[in-house]
Amino acid sequence: MTTTTAPDWTQRFSDRMSRVRASEIRELLKLLDQPDILSFAGGIPDPSLFPTERLQAAYEAVLADPELSAQALQYSVSEGYLPLRRWIAERMTRAGAPCDENNVLLTAGSQQALDLIGKLFLSPGATVMVARPTYLGALQAFNAYEPNYIDLPDGALTNGVDAEALMAGRAPRPLGYFVPDFANPTGQSLTLAEREALLRLADTLDMTLIEDAAYRDLRFEGEVLPTLLGLDIARSGSIETARTLYCGTFSKTLSPALRMGWVCGPRAVIDKLVLLKQGADLHVSTINQMVTHRAVSEGYEQHLGALRSAYGAKAKTILAALERHMPKGVTWPAPQGGMFIWLRLPEGMDGKVLLEKALAEERVAFVPGEPFFAEVPAANAIRLSYSLPTDAQIEDGVKRLAGLIGREM
Ligand SMILES: Cc1ncc(COP(=O)(O)O)c(C=O)c1O
Repeated sequence: MTTTTAPDWTQRFSDRMSRVRASEIRELLKLLDQPDILSFAGGIPDPSLFPTERLQAAYEAVLADPELSAQALQYSVSEGYLPLRRWIAERMTRAGAPCDENNVLLTAGSQQALDLIGKLFLSPGATVMVARPTYLGALQAFNAYEPNYIDLPDGALTNGVDAEALMAGRAPRPLGYFVPDFANPTGQSLTLAEREALLRLADTLDMTLIEDAAYRDLRFEGEVLPTLLGLDIARSGSIETARTLYCGTFSKTLSPALRMGWVCGPRAVIDKLVLLKQGADLHVSTINQMVTHRAVSEGYEQHLGALRSAYGAKAKTILAALERHMPKGVTWPAPQGGMFIWLRLPEGMDGKVLLEKALAEERVAFVPGEPFFAEVPAANAIRLSYSLPTDAQIEDGVKRLAGLIGREM
């Protein structure tokens, strides 16, 4: 028997792999199997809010009918299931972004939409503009296409920004990625004035905008604000002349396991994304598209109402616990929706170091802030998600974490 050594794979991977690294969140989630860890880390939906019966009925109905099941278990078109694309286009139209099914591509979660958009727009060295901090998963999706990042400076949308200085030495026509509603990781939203300022900046820089609306339907307080896409269409006249690509998902409202998301944008862009989708995985699971359509066709807004009150109640609980237990010098803006609170620690305190101690000494988990920064990191912040723990766990976890932070100050 001859033995051979394993190939040196690192010599064979493409250049782009130098930018692709393991996600700290995913690595961390592996630790969370330990039953005694109290976790604010995940940022995943509360499984007790999954519409299980609704989905069960939809799967049964689709599989029991010979004609429907023959379709549901078959290959299908890359654009996605027409009735669901139509449903999405009609809902987006009602919400102020007039469009039709030709403007909608179904994707395997909104994460795939980010990847396909990266593939379509980013050559190595291209410029991507992001908020500071921004969604780590978007950075992971874009990193494979080797862009350079610009953090939009704090306050730039309220106080104005020197666009020319910002872009000095950068590849022109940047791709801008923003989460205007209840962002991951901060839980914060752009005001109407900031949305308008962002569109003006996009005009000045000839920037294509990605609007990631993952948490938009989870508002539990305050007034609904127009989408960037809606504002863009209102001023440019039509979705075909808009520069915004809207990424939506059913992950936070139905179930992430369906892997059902979409991109809505000008047809010239959607048509190209369809080709990339074809090359990536042909199409989203046909049965899941048909089931999702059934699941949202009736009573969806009511279901969203139940989610909003459940997450709103959890947000209230964690805000009260933070107020009660956190030492002075720790600050957090209150969210009006979504699943996250962004805790600013005193200057000099490092979220990663704090996590190691929190796991070892207090059995509490969260996500350190640093990986959410694209260009210039800040260490003294952490992300808490309140979507999963019970009220009692929130109270207990915040108390333990506050005790640790107090000792570290
Ligand atoms: C801001 C944001 N965008 C996109 C996603 C991706 O979600 P999905 O691919 O399940 O739609 C997430 C998931 O956590 C997210 O937080």
